[in-house]
Amino acid sequence: MKKNIDWKNLGFGYIKTDYRYVSNYKDGKWDGGELSTDSEIRMNESAGVLQYAQTCFEGLKAYTTVDGHVVCFRPDLNAKRMVSSCQRLEMPVYPEDKFIEAVVKVVKANFDWVPPYGTGATLYLRPYMFGSNPVIGVKPADEYQFRIFATPVGPYFKGGVKPITLRVPDFDRAAPRGTGHVKAGLNYAMSLHAIVDAHNKGYNENMYLDSATRSKVEETGGANIIFITQDNVVVTPKSNTILPSITRRSLLYVAEHYLGLKTEEREVYVEELKDFTECALCGTAAVLSPVGEIVNNNEHIYLPSGKDRMGVVTQKLYDTLTDIQVGKLEAPEGWIKFIM
Ligand code: PLP
Ligand code: COI
Repeated sequence: MKKNIDWKNLGFGYIKTDYRYVSNYKDGKWDGGELSTDSEIRMNESAGVLQYAQTCFEGLKAYTTVDGHVVCFRPDLNAKRMVSSCQRLEMPVYPEDKFIEAVVKVVKANFDWVPPYGTGATLYLRPYMFGSNPVIGVKPADEYQFRIFATPVGPYFKGGVKPITLRVPDFDRAAPRGTGHVKAGLNYAMSLHAIVDAHNKGYNENMYLDSATRSKVEETGGANIIFITQDNVVVTPKSNTILPSITRRSLLYVAEHYLGLKTEEREVYVEELKDFTECALCGTAAVLSPVGEIVNNNEHIYLPSGKDRMGVVTQKLYDTLTDIQVGKLEAPEGWIKFIM
């Protein structure tokens, strides 16, 4: 039986669900892995994750489709991206096929927590890995734990699809040749001060610039960015210090192959911001969150799409992507992982 939850009014927060997946790495190999009802983790005081932040994570969602099935969206790409995060952080990789098997197990076991179709809510899955044995000299751990928990979520930004305000912070997110392209916990730790500062000043999110020149747009703390030009071209920043968003890669495909729009992945300069007609954040949590205003020091840029609703092109992209995710539109080959 589905849980008694007010699905339509869920925010983006943690709710403890019944089962999570746990696998341990020791003596150079992963154990078989299993579902667990224990949401608590006990580890040594000097665990690698606690001392030197040796941890990375992923985020994906399970959806109830229009005909009542449960599916995930492109989990193979999360599995792959986690491999690249682990390699960058000197962690053992979790095999991609085992990752997908674990996703399926967690979703099936938590079926009662998968929000019903039409509620706007989804089951967010958080795969992650951390160094678990004692480390005190700066070096990688020898033992690791891989887990996936599930939590039902609503929109990432309060107000759902109401356009948000971004500000360009004085802080940088990722260094050239650093870790911006992988999903390392440390990228988020160092964004916390900037996001608290942004919220204190009334902004919803930070729009980071490239730290080498501070002249080009990168991404926000938790999502990539797309822009729409006056000629309806979908533009997204190209940079090797941003996270390769699965949502962004999917949206570019949708723009070209479903909507017949031109797309450009290229450097986007701060001076260009005033020329775009629409802007939106894209990511698993953010889905497609429209931006109404961008504040860069004393300059206020108001997107012509306004502050009340999504822009026309953003709306089309949003509808098409979400219709694919819930089975209302045929998906490209391999995008939808059937769970049950
Ligand atoms: N960029 C950052 C920094 C993120 O945390 C996320 C979230 O996963 C994204 C982009 C979007 O990536 P995806 O679309 O794969 O969820
Ligand atoms: C996601 O979209 O899955 C993310 O990881 C963003 C997160 C910072 C909430």
